[in-house]
Amino acid sequence: MSEGPIVSGHDPRFERTLYAHVGKPGSHALDYYLSHGGYEAARKALTQMTPDEVIEEVKRSGLRGRGGAGFPTGLKWSFMPKDDGKQHYIIMNADESEPGSFKDRYILEDDPHQAIEGMIIAGYAIRATKGYIYIRGEYRRAYDRLIAAIEEAYARGYLGKNLFGSGFDFDLYVHRGAGAYICGEETALMNSLEGLRANPRLKPPFPAQKGLFGKPTTINNVETIASVVHIVVRGADWFAQMGYDKSKGMKLYQVSGPAKRPGVYELPMGTTFRELIFDWAGGVKEPIKAIIPGGSSTPMLPFTDEILDTPMDFEHLQEKGSMLGTGGVILIPESVCVVDVIWNLVRFYAHESCGKCTPCREGVAGWLVKLLGQLERGQGKPGDIELIEDLLDNIEGKSFCPLADAAVWPVRGALRHFRHEFEHHIEKGSCAVQAGSRWG
Ligand SMILES: Cc1cc2nc3c(=O)[nH]c(=O)nc-3n(C[C@H](O)[C@H](O)[C@H](O)COP(=O)(O)O)c2cc1C
Ligand code: SF4
Repeated sequence: MSEGPIVSGHDPRFERTLYAHVGKPGSHALDYYLSHGGYEAARKALTQMTPDEVIEEVKRSGLRGRGGAGFPTGLKWSFMPKDDGKQHYIIMNADESEPGSFKDRYILEDDPHQAIEGMIIAGYAIRATKGYIYIRGEYRRAYDRLIAAIEEAYARGYLGKNLFGSGFDFDLYVHRGAGAYICGEETALMNSLEGLRANPRLKPPFPAQKGLFGKPTTINNVETIASVVHIVVRGADWFAQMGYDKSKGMKLYQVSGPAKRPGVYELPMGTTFRELIFDWAGGVKEPIKAIIPGGSSTPMLPFTDEILDTPMDFEHLQEKGSMLGTGGVILIPESVCVVDVIWNLVRFYAHESCGKCTPCREGVAGWLVKLLGQLERGQGKPGDIELIEDLLDNIEGKSFCPLADAAVWPVRGALRHFRHEFEHHIEKGSCAVQAGSRWG
């Protein structure tokens, strides 16, 4: 195993920012960070800008959340109340448990001060003097690096009281995740932080009204918050010049599966699949039939010229019937049975269901797993595909939180583009692919 991800090398077409220091020796230390302009963004925000000016700059940049849903970050920040006299909180969502997503991890491992600096700026903008980083429990190395970086930052005055002489105080805490995918859903995350079972909460009230400990709270993904550091230093116009209409800036794309160089690639938003897979990830090791574009919950797409030339951003992927999600691209080889892939993914979501609502507990964890399992074992009956589709209609959009939708979408994508493989399982009782190799 290599120590870190394989990331894009130097290329004059694009300068890395979020991953500029990933993979560099000693990059997690404060002195390294300071010698590369570290904490200048926070200094600028706290001493030269008002909180509202920071929010305005982030709005103008066009930054949208990188945790999956793509909600405009500046707009989300503007929902926080002003002068209400209450404690506000900023939370960094570092749970990163969606299969195919592994971009946040390396920021935290190799550049933890970038995450801390982003949290200071975000906290200042939304008037939060306390921040929490909720980190996936399995990310031990990232956790250790974060704790060490926070201690260093406190010791040198980058966290704590009166930062940069601005009068702004900011304390930062790290909380290790409870080992469940649902802990990444923002309201379940807050319950987990409060020491409760990680069941999602009803919305409204939204976190900006009543969040952590009942107080106004904003939750953002690691990549989102790290992006703000560069927006403050270089300006909204610099960020907005990258990408398309409503999808701006740089993006951490991830490639897994049989690529020659799997890893994380920081590229302008809207880079095509073809560029990512062939120019950056070195091409493929074996014939590919499908792409999961944005983490395992996003509907798979066929590996065709049309899809390869599609820009990977929020709008273009929606037009193709899928989603950008976290930008975690998974390649599915020709030799693998799609039914097996889907059965595997659905079992993951079923295992992670918190059990609170019926469509997910009974629909996903009960019926969907049962029907797909029968099909996968060659025990499917004519009519099962239609039954599955009816089940999907009764789950999608009807659950308490989006986890059940995350189980439905991959099935929909697979049935749209690879229905014949499901039919083959029913008609012949076996995989359509010759080798029928198992996935996962
Ligand atoms: C089941 C589930 C798991 C999630 N896991 C994560 C996660 O690990 N990291 C993350 O940033 N967002 C995750 N999200 C999305 C969060 O609820 C939330 O939208 C996000 O943290 C907001 O940050 P952003 O606006 O910066 O994207 C998850 C959502 C669901 C429904
Ligand atoms: S959709 Fe699933 S994870 Fe979400 S609340 Fe319902 S049972 Fe829990």
